[in-house]
Amino acid sequence: MDAVTTQEPATGLESKIRTRAARVGVIGLGYVGLALAVETAEIGFPVVGIEIDEDKAAMVNGCRSYIGDVTDDALDRVVAAGRFRATTDYGALRDADVIIICVPTPLTKSKEPDLSHVIAAAQACVPAIRRDTLVVLESTTYPGTTVEVVKPILETSGLQAGADFALAFSPERIDPGNRRYSLRSIPKVVGGMTPASTQVARTFYEQIANTVVPVSSPTVAEMVKVYENVFRNVNIALVNELTLLCDRMSLDVWEIIETAATKPYGFMPFYPGPGVGGHCIPVDPYYLSAKAREYDFHARFIELAATVNDSMPYYVVSRTTGALEARGKTLWGSRVLLLGVAYKRDIPDVRMSPALKVLGLLHKRGASVSYHDPHVPEIALANPGTIRSQPLTDQVLADVDCVILTTDHTAIDYDRIVARAPLIIDTRNRLHDYRASHVVRL
Ligand SMILES: NC(=O)c1ccc[n+]([C@@H]2O[C@H](COP(=O)([O-])OP(=O)(O)OC[C@H]3O[C@@H](n4cnc5c(N)ncnc54)[C@H](O)[C@@H]3O)[C@@H](O)[C@H]2O)c1
Repeated sequence: MDAVTTQEPATGLESKIRTRAARVGVIGLGYVGLALAVETAEIGFPVVGIEIDEDKAAMVNGCRSYIGDVTDDALDRVVAAGRFRATTDYGALRDADVIIICVPTPLTKSKEPDLSHVIAAAQACVPAIRRDTLVVLESTTYPGTTVEVVKPILETSGLQAGADFALAFSPERIDPGNRRYSLRSIPKVVGGMTPASTQVARTFYEQIANTVVPVSSPTVAEMVKVYENVFRNVNIALVNELTLLCDRMSLDVWEIIETAATKPYGFMPFYPGPGVGGHCIPVDPYYLSAKAREYDFHARFIELAATVNDSMPYYVVSRTTGALEARGKTLWGSRVLLLGVAYKRDIPDVRMSPALKVLGLLHKRGASVSYHDPHVPEIALANPGTIRSQPLTDQVLADVDCVILTTDHTAIDYDRIVARAPLIIDTRNRLHDYRASHVVRL
């Protein structure tokens, strides 16, 4: 695994990194960039964050975090110590020795990779490139991006990647809201343009992470990251498909998963749900399938997984319709409350959340839809428009025809929901201990 077989002599930049004198610039202060910038500043590096959103930059400088995993206190420590500031001015990168790109990599409407943010960030780096600078791309992307897209842009500086300055890809593996694994404890994969680029990037990340895993190229590192997310996406699709079959066969899919998970080797449990959401799992596989087409290769598992996972919100609506009909009601005209609209537990992120898809489908089919989410005060949708989280009063629960548990946040009084709501569709198996006829599990 260790591609850097010979340890090259430490460069000037490596020495600066080891003494924490190297100046770090982080481009894009979102979930990934803000967490990385604060961690880097906490351990003593001077850090500047470049963020195009003026409000976010102002919040950072005012020590107000907008990311759950970064506390105001942590921001306060590094901002007050003068080790971290945010700006919208790319000119601030001029002094940076290490530049890390953490900008979004979304999809276009037709689900093609949209590298516009990566390209803009790389272009903005050009005036800052000097001999000995290290540039690292952390945004998740298709294999080949660093070499084919970022490198030529950076080389318009007149300097050569790998020879004059170091260039690497290092995927981010954080899991927002996960208290068990931190930036420090998650092994960091690093693939440089040359062994020397890998070495200097490795030295940098060794300051932040306990384990650094060097690989032979940026393209390998890019493929590792998309493979990890495709693996998750495909396995979730597999268990979602099993759920559809179990429904037909009147089998309890949750009992089957829990029992299979007693096998001590060769099995890893994945759980069904209303679909997949967030900025990674539903997006990254399309980056790989788009690249694969360049090689006349059709990544069939990826397409199949998308077909199954995309069908899940429709399945949730169909189970809801069936459960209402069994109680003599129709979906049309029913009042349905969604419990949780974030794409996963205990975070405020609604990007590509399947709950929003369920909400849109229910609205289209004539239900009167509301939601409660302790982490998401308001959502803006094309249809039915902007709606606000309902307080979970006894009256609200008694007045609805059905509650759909779409996200199993911790801060919900589930006892009360089960006691008050007339019908609950549980898409997360959160209510497994309640064997009541008005609780319907996926
Ligand atoms: N969120 C995650 O859990 C996660 C985990 C692993 C990898 N990733 C990957 O990391 C990358 C960043 O994801 P994120 O969740 O932090 O996104 P995000 O949307 O939370 O943050 C990105 C930030 O970059 C800013 N930005 C956009 N273009 C910019 C530019 N040209 N210059 C400066 N700032 C710019 C945006 O305003 C935003 O604040 C993506 O490629 C994503 O796939 C995300």
